[in-house]
Amino acid sequence: MDNQNKPIYTGSTNEEKIELLRRKNAEAMLGGGEGRIASQHKKGKLTARERIELLLDEGSFQEIDRFVMHRAKDFGLDKEHYLGDGVVTGYGEINGRLVYVYSQDFTVFGGSLSETHAEKICKIMDMAMKNGAPVIGLNDSGGARIQEGVNSLGGYADIFYRNTLASGVVPQISAIMGPCAGGAVYSPAITDFILMVENTSYMFVTGPNVVKTVTQETVTAEELGGASAHSTKSGVTHFACRNEVECIRHIKDLLSYIPQNCEEIAPVYPYELKADESRKELDTIVPENPNHPYDIRDVVRGIVDSDSFMEVHENYADNIVVGFARIAGRSIGIVGNQPQSMAGVLDNHASIKAARFVRFCDSFNVPLLVLVDVPGFLPGTDQEWNGIITNGAKLLYAFSEATVPRITVITRKAYGGAYDVMNSKHIGADMNFAWPTAEIAVMGAKGAAEIIFRKEIAAAADPEAKLQEKVDEYTAKFANPYRAAHRGFIDEVIEPSETRIKLIKAFKMLENKVDKLPRKKHGNIPL
Ligand code: HXC
Repeated sequence: MDNQNKPIYTGSTNEEKIELLRRKNAEAMLGGGEGRIASQHKKGKLTARERIELLLDEGSFQEIDRFVMHRAKDFGLDKEHYLGDGVVTGYGEINGRLVYVYSQDFTVFGGSLSETHAEKICKIMDMAMKNGAPVIGLNDSGGARIQEGVNSLGGYADIFYRNTLASGVVPQISAIMGPCAGGAVYSPAITDFILMVENTSYMFVTGPNVVKTVTQETVTAEELGGASAHSTKSGVTHFACRNEVECIRHIKDLLSYIPQNCEEIAPVYPYELKADESRKELDTIVPENPNHPYDIRDVVRGIVDSDSFMEVHENYADNIVVGFARIAGRSIGIVGNQPQSMAGVLDNHASIKAARFVRFCDSFNVPLLVLVDVPGFLPGTDQEWNGIITNGAKLLYAFSEATVPRITVITRKAYGGAYDVMNSKHIGADMNFAWPTAEIAVMGAKGAAEIIFRKEIAAAADPEAKLQEKVDEYTAKFANPYRAAHRGFIDEVIEPSETRIKLIKAFKMLENKVDKLPRKKHGNIPL
């Protein structure tokens, strides 16, 4: 604990001066002291510095502002100072690539955010913007430094403002490794990806006590805002990790798919094309019965480089699957309807989840692959009253404005408005493929027959037989990819086993795609 106002005896000889520096460095390493470090470990948590050590390439971390201390004097703060003021900041490398990092130190005033703590974070964010590299925030904080009042709130706002300016310029990743409450949640919320650690982290705008007072609900911090709640119910977090080590591994994996900034492309991994890239297993994935489910992830695995698929938002809105993968060594973002969950229907959550992912990929030059098997939008009051019109429009808008290479493969159903929304040719997709099992129509054959042949069916001697006849007629006409292929809405109908090689070639062909949106300040996506 160093008192900022005390005159510092720096020594008279060079040796003494160097010795003082070493002592100060050693003091800074201890944060809030050994007792508090032990208590952090007892909770199953690593310290701020241990986390950085795990995250960055060995020996690459360069700390900035190690000796910064708070300036506040109220409520005893004039007597208690810690070098670094509750956050470790700096830069380093992950797999040889530059990143900026801040790691909040819970052992110093509970990692609470003071004016100077905020200044340290802002400093590295400014550097990240100038030098075009990702910012990774490791959050573990009791929120605003209560003793500092509005200075602390101002510090938060300074960070939020930079988060917003940096959005779409450099990737921003937030790992929540302890408390993150009150307005503090809005910094991670603006960043591109949030990861939470099960049982030791939580995020909420108001905690269990306030909830109890206002709504009379009794809920624990974990139930209200733990990793499980936010990965399944709210969708706030993209990853729920079993422990901090897994969380840090996910951050590194995630970075391997994305570029350093919006001017670059993601790292390309060496890949030598094989003589035979066909994947026979794809030919039998779609069941003969169009109403039977299958796992779209099996299609993904049959297309992408082996073990390269990293799913994002895995436990949220599982009727749509999104994630990163590599195809012939190049990064792509995948959006796929999931027939094994609610038949792959598009609903509010799925639309929002996919739209956000599409926008990330487009911001950072990650080409998109869209796998379509969608019966339409989910009907019902719940969906309508919760804004399926606005939310479905988000996805439509996100695809429409994306200028990255965009390829679609229709594996089975592409019905109604959902056909248009799911990266159809009409909204700017570059290449649209369909499997022979594709059905592209306004709606399913039975529903269609019941509407357009209602009178004929009712008047028939055997209405059931008539309905079946009309269903067969409609199926023969529309439940296939060829009508769309005749119009050029589908560029090619392909054998499923050939999908991988077709996509490798198409993405290569689109490698230098240039597409510009009309000049504007910014669009007005339906929020
Ligand atoms: C100053 C704080 C602090 C804070 C914790 N500490 N939070 N100091 N400001 N916000 C200090 C404690 O005094 C304690 O100091 C040490 O950190 C560890 O805290 P404990 O309470 O012992 O830890 P634990 O039991 O693990 O509880 C953690 C906690 C609790 C749940 C986070 O500390 C807590 O409720 N803190 C207050 C949270 C809060 O209301 N923050 C303001 C939110 S509003 P010693 O010296 O004993 O080690 C907000 C607005 C942001 O953040 C708005 C932005 C727009």
